[in-house]
Amino acid sequence: MLSIVPLAICSSHASDSITSNQSLPGDQNLFSVGGNFELGFFTKNKASSKFYIGIWYKRVSELTPVWVANRATPVSDITKCLLHISPDGNLALLDQSINSLVWSTNATIPSNSSTVAVLQDNGNLVLRDPDNSSNIFWQSFDNPTHMWLPGCKISFNKITKVSRRIISWKNSEDPAPGLFSNSNLEDTQNVLQWNMSKIYWTSGPWNGLIFTKLPEMTSQYLFKLTFVNTSEESYFTFSLLDNTTTPYAAYVMDVSGQMKALLWLEVNRQWTQIFAAPAQCDVTKFCGPFGICNELRESCLCVKGFSQRSPKDWALSDHSLGCVRDIQLQYCDGTGSDYVGERDKFFQMSSVRLPDDGQSLQVGSDDECMQACLYNCSCTAYSYNGTGCTVWYGDLYNLQDQYEGSGGGTLYLRLAASELPNHHKKGSVSGLVAGLVAASLVCFGIVCTLVTIRIRRRRAFKLVMGPLVAFRYSDLQRVTKNFSDKLGAGSFGSVSKGVLPDSTAIAVKKLEGLRQGEKQFRTEVSTLGTIQHVNLVRFCGFCAEGKERLLVFDYMPNGSLDSRLFRGNDNVLDWSTRYRIALGIARGLEYLHEKCRECIIHCDIKPENILLDAEFNPKVADFGLAKLLGREFSHVLTSMRGTIGYLAPEWITGLAITPKADVYSFGMMLLEIISGKRNTEQLAESGESDDYYFPAVAAVNVREDTVQCLLDDRLQGNANMDELIIACRVACWCIQGLESQRPTMGLVVRMLEGLTEVSIPPIPSIFRALDIDAEN
Ligand SMILES: *[C@@H]1O[C@H](CO)[C@@H](O)[C@H](O)[C@H]1NC(C)=O
Ligand SMILES: *[C@@H]1O[C@H](CO)[C@@H](O)[C@H](O)[C@H]1NC(C)=O
Ligand SMILES: *[C@@H]1O[C@H](CO)[C@@H](O)[C@H](O)[C@H]1NC(C)=O
Ligand SMILES: *[C@@H]1O[C@H](CO)[C@@H](O)[C@H](O)[C@H]1NC(C)=O
Ligand SMILES: *[C@@H]1O[C@H](CO)[C@@H](O)[C@H](O)[C@H]1NC(C)=O
Ligand SMILES: *[C@@H]1O[C@H](CO)[C@@H](O)[C@H](O)[C@H]1NC(C)=O
Repeated sequence: MLSIVPLAICSSHASDSITSNQSLPGDQNLFSVGGNFELGFFTKNKASSKFYIGIWYKRVSELTPVWVANRATPVSDITKCLLHISPDGNLALLDQSINSLVWSTNATIPSNSSTVAVLQDNGNLVLRDPDNSSNIFWQSFDNPTHMWLPGCKISFNKITKVSRRIISWKNSEDPAPGLFSNSNLEDTQNVLQWNMSKIYWTSGPWNGLIFTKLPEMTSQYLFKLTFVNTSEESYFTFSLLDNTTTPYAAYVMDVSGQMKALLWLEVNRQWTQIFAAPAQCDVTKFCGPFGICNELRESCLCVKGFSQRSPKDWALSDHSLGCVRDIQLQYCDGTGSDYVGERDKFFQMSSVRLPDDGQSLQVGSDDECMQACLYNCSCTAYSYNGTGCTVWYGDLYNLQDQYEGSGGGTLYLRLAASELPNHHKKGSVSGLVAGLVAASLVCFGIVCTLVTIRIRRRRAFKLVMGPLVAFRYSDLQRVTKNFSDKLGAGSFGSVSKGVLPDSTAIAVKKLEGLRQGEKQFRTEVSTLGTIQHVNLVRFCGFCAEGKERLLVFDYMPNGSLDSRLFRGNDNVLDWSTRYRIALGIARGLEYLHEKCRECIIHCDIKPENILLDAEFNPKVADFGLAKLLGREFSHVLTSMRGTIGYLAPEWITGLAITPKADVYSFGMMLLEIISGKRNTEQLAESGESDDYYFPAVAAVNVREDTVQCLLDDRLQGNANMDELIIACRVACWCIQGLESQRPTMGLVVRMLEGLTEVSIPPIPSIFRALDIDAEN
């Protein structure tokens, strides 16, 4: 036994290639020369005995396959498997236990040529002529599976009209081809498709620099996307602008049906998602039949009266089989024409996104619409919107709950009568007894509640810790009506409005994803309690009970800056208010950075986190969360869509975060205060001919002193020009790529106050790297 171990080490050849007279036994791996990649057998589920040949990052601690050879044909006993160059020159995987070919590169190789398979340090596995490295017969970059690595091409072949495709895994453990794929259309758009057919997302056309609908995919400081168009093919490829700090990045066609850009951050030892499209609930049929998608939780549930068809698949993030009825419908008989059983009922689902394959019927009322559905045995749901009736037949797909957008409404779902609570059975003695018992329990319950409320009222709202109140969970639950009046929701948790018994309005934030102990939480929170400034939201209390962690703030009647800045043409904020808001935010941040006992970096400055009081004074909210959440914070933050546009480059590159990261975000937000639009949105909105990324355009115009064109159109030029010039210059100083070039918040305040001259800033390096011209 002992002698086997050293023997195995001796025979393991730490090689990067397989030649025709060698073979790679199942228990040995290839290593690329620079040590970035490894090829061998892997499994994502040790108990399954399903093994795959794959390539993964050698230096990444979390096993992350970037390519899989036999993705649909796993083998069970790797000791009986052999990867070798077969007599025809192809690289092939042989299962000797059943003596069969499991997988082959299947390339056309001129007879009698000898071949070698080499794992390159960029993750590409190449089958080529041993004497001529340009004579390539096959390579994994031309046959990608689910990932798109730097250097790999997503191409469209103009002669065969076929696009290279990357296809999601079937589920989080099974690399077999799933339902979602990414490919290119002829007209240079990148698209996502369900089951190789239905397109559910497009990138918008390429404009030479970026995808029109997708600025954040390309205008980041990380990736440089290139489009190449020849007479035979067109393709996209990407490289990392700087691969020294963060060498590993890839786009992946995820099992969620989203295209994601991932970056390995060694500091956190985890993959950070820097981009994902589309929104989870916009992925076609993601939740399967009768599943309903929730965007906030990015997850699926079954609609009422239904259960998961395959809980095993759901647990592995494959919801495609959806949900099945718990109780069969009884009204229709098998022939679908006669009505036999108890009349089916309809369950009301409000604020849902309606499936798009409904059929409109010409009927005049809600009741007629219901009848039309009821008397058609294949009708599963209806919706009546006051003017029109829509009915659905068969399976329902693409439902989304808590949906307020277009195509939403109230859906009435057909269920067996016994599913619905107001179902009365004919009276029986046992039913009566049960009813009486239930009724008396309810009465008893009410008495109990009254008693507890009376007792609790006496003790509530009294536990004061320093300047802060330690609230009871049940009290917060009550004053917020069980958190029903939602003011907003983000990745750190939702905020609800509440009213204290003394009629003070409060905002209660329920933190999610916090694994901090109660004692540590209290310590951190009490430090936050000492921070007070006219431009910071006043923090008045907290709650830490069991797993619950809540923070309580003053309620701000004018909501958040984004709601005032970006929406509609009524009550547009005038220039002097905007300037006052910018200055107030700067002062609040200066206080956090420079005037507190301990410097606090906000880390998530964006319009959603600026609240406005009754006089439109800005108050910075959510400060201190970075400290409270610790390492969780950066993960949550960087995996958030939307926020990415405000994040300083050092967040992504993994350098230490300093207060200058807030300065960067402030600069991005200041540009939005000037233009009244989201930096990212403007790009999508502007016409095809003159697409531009607003911050880049602003940087150019600031240099040429033509800043009037940057002002929000809705202000019709009504702004103090001196202030506009200052604001634009300050913003561009703040978004410089190099931290050392950005001003401190203190300097920003003095510049906005007009106490310090502001010179003309250089064009930020990220835009220079992207080669933006001075047009527009
Ligand atoms: C190998 O390629 C040929 C055509 O080049 C194709 O007909 C055949 O199905 C392929 N075999 C496998 C196992 O992929
Ligand atoms: C292939 O090689 C064999 C021996 O090495 C030789 O006899 C045969 O003629 C060659 N065939 C071709 C097509 O070159
Ligand atoms: C190597 O292969 C390439 C591609 O097949 C070919 O163009 C080139 O002439 C070959 N070079 C030599 C030295 O044979
Ligand atoms: C995908 O499409 C194929 C034919 O194009 C069809 O046979 C198959 O059932 C579809 N898959 C699903 C899950 O609908
Ligand atoms: C970094 O980029 C350079 C130049 O593009 C390349 O030669 C090198 O292999 C890359 N390093 C890694 C780890 O990808
Ligand atoms: C109501 O539904 C009908 C189709 O059933 C549609 O044509 C109409 O636009 C809808 N009206 C509103 C206000 O949504």
